[in-house]
Amino acid sequence: MLEIAPSVLAAHPLHVGADVDRLVKAGATILHLDIMDGHFVPNLSFGPAMVKALRDAYPELVLDVHLMLSRPQDFVDAFIRAGASEVTIHSEAAGDLPALLAHIRAAGLRAGLSMKPATPAASLAPYLDSLDLVLLMSVEPGFGGQALMPQTLPKLKQLRDMGFQGTLSVDGGVNRENSRQVIDSGATRLVMGTAAFRDPDPAALFRALQRP
Ligand code: DX5
Ligand code: ZN
Repeated sequence: MLEIAPSVLAAHPLHVGADVDRLVKAGATILHLDIMDGHFVPNLSFGPAMVKALRDAYPELVLDVHLMLSRPQDFVDAFIRAGASEVTIHSEAAGDLPALLAHIRAAGLRAGLSMKPATPAASLAPYLDSLDLVLLMSVEPGFGGQALMPQTLPKLKQLRDMGFQGTLSVDGGVNRENSRQVIDSGATRLVMGTAAFRDPDPAALFRALQRP
């Protein structure tokens, strides 16, 4: 079954709880949390306290944490403690990435690696055995509400051809209209910020996305 992960970055900052609750009631089982450091990307978002608040409120949800951080090693443990289910770091980040991925898995979480639009799929080859999830950025990371770059999508098939069997997640500009192209390109999870949080009837959106 296709996984859909609404991105909390698109919630209204003054009523995150109400916005998230609306999507959970509509059937969301995964939340995507975008963590930005103002250095790896030119924006700031939120931190471990947000993840912990969501974990406390929703013990059953999968919390898919996307670290857009230059130095992910400085914060991975804080997000593990906050209750993340999955932690994704960027392949372009600094540090000992294999050790960090192993550390995430050793803590019992699923480990992910993300790549920016210009990063080739082949650069993930050394890591594929250490990964549960690949997060393909279909926009330049940093901001919600951008248009999907379709030229990034062939990397999904390349990853499968390289033997990767885990979750293939696509992040950035995914909406109801382009979802078929994204799924047909090989995505098993759609991250949706604007399209999920702004939809007047998210339950109908989730149902429509599941239709073959
Ligand atoms: C961008 C983030 C995305 C973003 C997606 O840096 O990684 O997760 O929230 O938002 P939309 O779906 O609005 O492009
Ligand atoms: Zn993201």
